[in-house]
Amino acid sequence: MDQETRILGIETSCDETAAAVVESGRHVVSNLVASQAELHARYGGVFPEVASRIHIETIFPVVAEALSLAHVGLDAIDAIAVTRGPGLAGSLVVGLNMAKGLALASGLPLLGVNHLEAHLYSTWLVEDQPTPEFPLLGLIVSGGHTELILMTGQLEYQRLGATLDDAAGEAFDKVARLLGLAYPGGPAIQTAAENGDRTAFRFPRAWLEGTWDFSFSGLKTAVLREVRAQQPEIEAGVEAPGPGLPIADLAASFQAAVIEVLVGKTMAAAKAFKAKEILVAGGVSANRPLREAMVDQSDFPVRVPPLYLCTDNAAMIAALGHWRYLAGQRDALDIDALPTWPLAG
Ligand code: KG4
Ligand code: ZN
Repeated sequence: MDQETRILGIETSCDETAAAVVESGRHVVSNLVASQAELHARYGGVFPEVASRIHIETIFPVVAEALSLAHVGLDAIDAIAVTRGPGLAGSLVVGLNMAKGLALASGLPLLGVNHLEAHLYSTWLVEDQPTPEFPLLGLIVSGGHTELILMTGQLEYQRLGATLDDAAGEAFDKVARLLGLAYPGGPAIQTAAENGDRTAFRFPRAWLEGTWDFSFSGLKTAVLREVRAQQPEIEAGVEAPGPGLPIADLAASFQAAVIEVLVGKTMAAAKAFKAKEILVAGGVSANRPLREAMVDQSDFPVRVPPLYLCTDNAAMIAALGHWRYLAGQRDALDIDALPTWPLAG
C-alpha cells in the first residue's frame, strides 16, 4: 500500500476554486486556492450563480498554476481527482468538466471523489506524523456538514450521527450575521470572541442524549432572542445591530456553546467506539479555541489539519485521490456531479 503516486486535485464545490499536486497522499507539492469569499461577503453568504461564474473564469489559470508551481506537466501525473459532491451543482460541474477535459486530452484516469471524505484525508497531510491507526473517530465540521464518522479502515466509514438542522459552520455564519459581523462568520466570531466573556450568556446546549446527532438551530435562535432583548428598538432589522450590543460577549458565549457540544460528543463517541485517534476536519476545525479544547480534553491523540488545509482546498482532494487510485477506482468520463452525496449510510 506504500506505492508512490502524484495526483492532481481539483476542487470547486463551493466558493473556492482550487487545484493542487500531492505525492503519495501525504506530501503537498503545490496547493492553490482562489477564494471568492470577499466577493460573496457583500451578499452575506455564497451566491451560487456568482460562484459558478467565477469558477469558470478562474479554474483554468488555477490548475495551470498548480502544475507550474509543482514543476510538472500532466505527463508526470498519475491521475486527476476532482470533487464530485456534495456541493453547489453549478460550481461542481465547473471543476468536473475541467477534470474530464484534462483526462480526455491526456488519457489519465479520472477519479470523482467525495468532498467530506476528502476533509478527513486532509489530516493525512501532516508529513511528520505517523499514519493514523484505525479505528478513527472523525468529526467533520464545515459550512454544510457536521458529522461524526467512525473510520474502520482506509476508505471505510460508518456514519454515527450528523446535524439535524444547521451545520456548525452555518451556525457561525448565521450568528455572525445577527451580530453584524462579516462573512465568513467563523473567523469573524473567533476574533470578536477573543475580547469577550464566554460565561456572559448561558446559551442552550443540545446534547440529544442517546444519539450521535447534533442540533444548532436552537442555539442560533437563542442568540437572536438575546440580540433582540438587548436592542428592542431594532427588532425588525437585527441584521444591522446598533452600538451598545455586547458583540464580544455574545460571540464568546455562542462559540463556547458550540465547542462544548462538539468536544463533548466527539470524546464520548471516541470512548464508545474505542477509537485509537480523533480526526477533526472541515472549515470550523480552523477555530483555535475548538482545536485547543479538543486537545486539552482528549484522552486520545487528536489530529487536526494545518490551518491552510482546514477550509476548502484541493490538496485534500488529491490526498484522497491517492487512496482511491490505489484501490482501483477509475471513473467514466460521463460521471455526473452529485450535489447531495452522503459519506456513508
Ligand atoms: O470546509 P469549508 O471551507 O467549506 C465547506 O465545505 O462548507 O467550511 C467553511 C465554514 C464556514 O461556515 C466558515 O464560517 C467556517 O468554516 N470557518 C470557521 C473558521 N474558519 C472557517 N468557523 C469557526 N472558526 C473559524 N476560525
Ligand atoms: Zn469543505
